[in-house]
Amino acid sequence: MKHELIIVLDFGGQYNQLIARRVRDLNVYCEVKSYKTPISELKAMNPSGFIFTGGPNSVYLDTSPTISKEIFELGLPILGICYGSQLMAHVLGGKVESAAKSEYGMTSTNFDTSSLIFEGTPKESVTWMSHTDRISALPEGFKTTAYTASCPIAAMENPEKKLYAVQFHPEVSHTKYGNDVLKNFLYNVCKLSGDWSMKNYINTAINDVRAKVGDGKVLLALSGGVDSSVLAALLSRAVGNKLTCIFVDHGLMRKNEGDEVEEVFKNRELNFIRVNAGPRFLAKLAGVSEPEAKRKIIGEEFIRVFEEEAKKLGKVDFLAQGTIYPDVIESGMGDAAVIKSHHNVGGLPDYVDFKDIIEPLRLLFKDEVRRLGMELGLPDFLVWRQPFPGPGLAIRIIGDITEERVKILQDADYIFREEIAKAGLDKSINQYFAVLTSMRSVGVMGDFRTYDYTLALRGVTTTDFMTADFARIPYDVLSHISARIVNEVPHLGRIVYDITTKPPATIEWE
Ligand code: XMP
Repeated sequence: MKHELIIVLDFGGQYNQLIARRVRDLNVYCEVKSYKTPISELKAMNPSGFIFTGGPNSVYLDTSPTISKEIFELGLPILGICYGSQLMAHVLGGKVESAAKSEYGMTSTNFDTSSLIFEGTPKESVTWMSHTDRISALPEGFKTTAYTASCPIAAMENPEKKLYAVQFHPEVSHTKYGNDVLKNFLYNVCKLSGDWSMKNYINTAINDVRAKVGDGKVLLALSGGVDSSVLAALLSRAVGNKLTCIFVDHGLMRKNEGDEVEEVFKNRELNFIRVNAGPRFLAKLAGVSEPEAKRKIIGEEFIRVFEEEAKKLGKVDFLAQGTIYPDVIESGMGDAAVIKSHHNVGGLPDYVDFKDIIEPLRLLFKDEVRRLGMELGLPDFLVWRQPFPGPGLAIRIIGDITEERVKILQDADYIFREEIAKAGLDKSINQYFAVLTSMRSVGVMGDFRTYDYTLALRGVTTTDFMTADFARIPYDVLSHISARIVNEVPHLGRIVYDITTKPPATIEWE
């Protein structure tokens, strides 16, 4: 099935993925393409319009990303944002200059509400600005449709040619009517019907997978994370028992997690294989305390276990991977595709005999993957699962990993998570967990001296996990958590809360 399509042309701005997500939230399918993509290729995709993103450069530098005039002659609607708006002006013969003063942050902006893209906005409202350069002379055929105190051309348009440009960022939530501007562009200017919805996507994806798989066998490494779980649910609906999921339980999951994953998948139409490899991993990890060595051992052992199981199945035709859209998008600035390996099981395909890879989530953003998971009836705890490192609790146990120490951490971590949820903080803290340190300290319980481990609690707020702040958990909540943990979990004598940001610390301790 063909969808309406908007192409977000990426000039290297920081909000590019956000633009694409906003467009999809408005029920229009869009893809992010580099500004370097040949125009013939863009045209062949048959888009209904383009959105030019922001970017960090000045349009008049030789090294800056640019675009051929040809794109403006396709007769398709274009919305330029920030750098994209300046580029439109520059290429079409207007002028862009460096302003004496940068305009940054929330800015009062006046709109010409007779413009198709400002329909329904008030005459004055707040927008999010982030620029030094500005358009100083309009290209021929354009008129000004918004201004601020220090930016006389904050928006311009040539409605006959369906060309629109805004200096501010409509995709950022600080722009009060930003969503309306995007919506107006999609529905008033591009005249779209809005045919992108998760239900539609499921049908399309299922048909595509069926057509590709035919009578073949599909193999999936199920980790219990969001992406692989949603993928398993989708494939199960598409190809049923032609799908085999291998769930390698390394024994370093959180409390009850292995059983919970099994419970969800064992009753679906698919072949579910759980390998309880805990003792095997523990044996390999005995006496190992160096973090990178732990990661390496777990990664390698994981592959070995998976490979042994896969071999029992004989030849499979397809290996399914949970690649998602942010892993796929090329940055408009980069020369090479930035493709992250989303799995911890790096190199897995080399070890399994298969014909082809299928990646039905590769067009979806993380929040869309979660929505898909909900549509497919997965339980909340899987769909909203916080990030969990592949090596699991092994990198949250400082020093020696033993069965007893795994159990201590699982029990304490469980209480921490339970109380955070009870306090209603589970959606606002992006990642939270306990770390078992190797430090012991003296305490007193009843009339006896104790000498037990210190447990650290970590909670962070972050948008991208590249930087993070520690979560301001109320003292009362921390106090209750501390009391419960020392009372209910043996061998823990002291609880501390980690108040470091990233950087300089990382989120995990190892
Ligand atoms: P750091 O500790 O680097 O973590 O600040 C950033 C995010 O990545 C997760 N993380 C991992 N995920 N395998 C993973 O799949 C790993 O080895 C690993 N180490 C850290 C971490 O939980 C956080 O969300």
